[in-house]
Amino acid sequence: MAIWNLGSINADMVYALPHLPVAGETLAATGLDQFLGGKGANMSVAAARAGSTVHHIGAVGPEGSWAVQRLMEYGVDTRHIATLDLPTGHAIIAVDSAGENQIILFPGANHAISSNQIGQALSEAASGDTLVLQNETNQQPEAVEMAQKLGLKVAYAAAPFEAEAVQAVLPFLDLLFLNAVEAEQLQQAIGKAPQDLGVADVIVTLGSKGARHFDGSTGNTTDVPALPVTPVDTTGAGDTFTGYVLSGLDRGLPMAQAMAQAARAGALMVTRHGTADVIPDLKEVQEARF
Ligand code: RIB
Repeated sequence: MAIWNLGSINADMVYALPHLPVAGETLAATGLDQFLGGKGANMSVAAARAGSTVHHIGAVGPEGSWAVQRLMEYGVDTRHIATLDLPTGHAIIAVDSAGENQIILFPGANHAISSNQIGQALSEAASGDTLVLQNETNQQPEAVEMAQKLGLKVAYAAAPFEAEAVQAVLPFLDLLFLNAVEAEQLQQAIGKAPQDLGVADVIVTLGSKGARHFDGSTGNTTDVPALPVTPVDTTGAGDTFTGYVLSGLDRGLPMAQAMAQAARAGALMVTRHGTADVIPDLKEVQEARF
């Protein structure tokens, strides 16, 4: 089967800082690097590096051909990435000495994707394929409706978190990814805990405590532990986890195994500086010693 990703593509400008800036503070960076990023691009690269067939649906500006080229080099099908007359999305990312981050997003072309473009892409999808989305593009409700009609499974990573955005797609979801803070925010907004959302599978990531799967059909929960690593940069680790879970499921792994493999990928990722360009491949993930 294949994974279709309606996802953001960003240029990540990553600034190394002694600490995250507070309001009104001017702070000199100790380093600057540029990476391919965007939650969407990161997930596409992760799933492709995990061995899946991945089709990215997205948009860049006229100066964004480098990002498309890089996605292609990482094994992602880029035929459904439009070049629009808007700037490519970018992210200003501050990373402190403990690996924590703060991100400012400029959506650019990520917010100008047309429903026609999505329809054309998904017309090539097969029933049983998966569509994944995050909250960094426009057209989310239109895309999930199309995907459900075509018999695709629909997965959603609720980041950056907006309760209204989750609610708009919730009735169409087969799989929902949240972190612990997002799960709490969603519960406050709609009064439902993860197991009561009516979604077949909900995964809540818990940082250094691992991740929890809520099985909507049995009511069972399964915990997958995190691996012991010292983080240098947590940016993109959640996207890597999500991409690896989707790829594992797409290739027939049971949920617990897909999550365990994804936890290894996420753990490796936090030991690296950068985003899409440094996502580990399956061989690295399987051979890693923790
Ligand atoms: O999750 C990390 C990502 O968030 C970065 O790559 C950045 O582009 C933002 O989308």
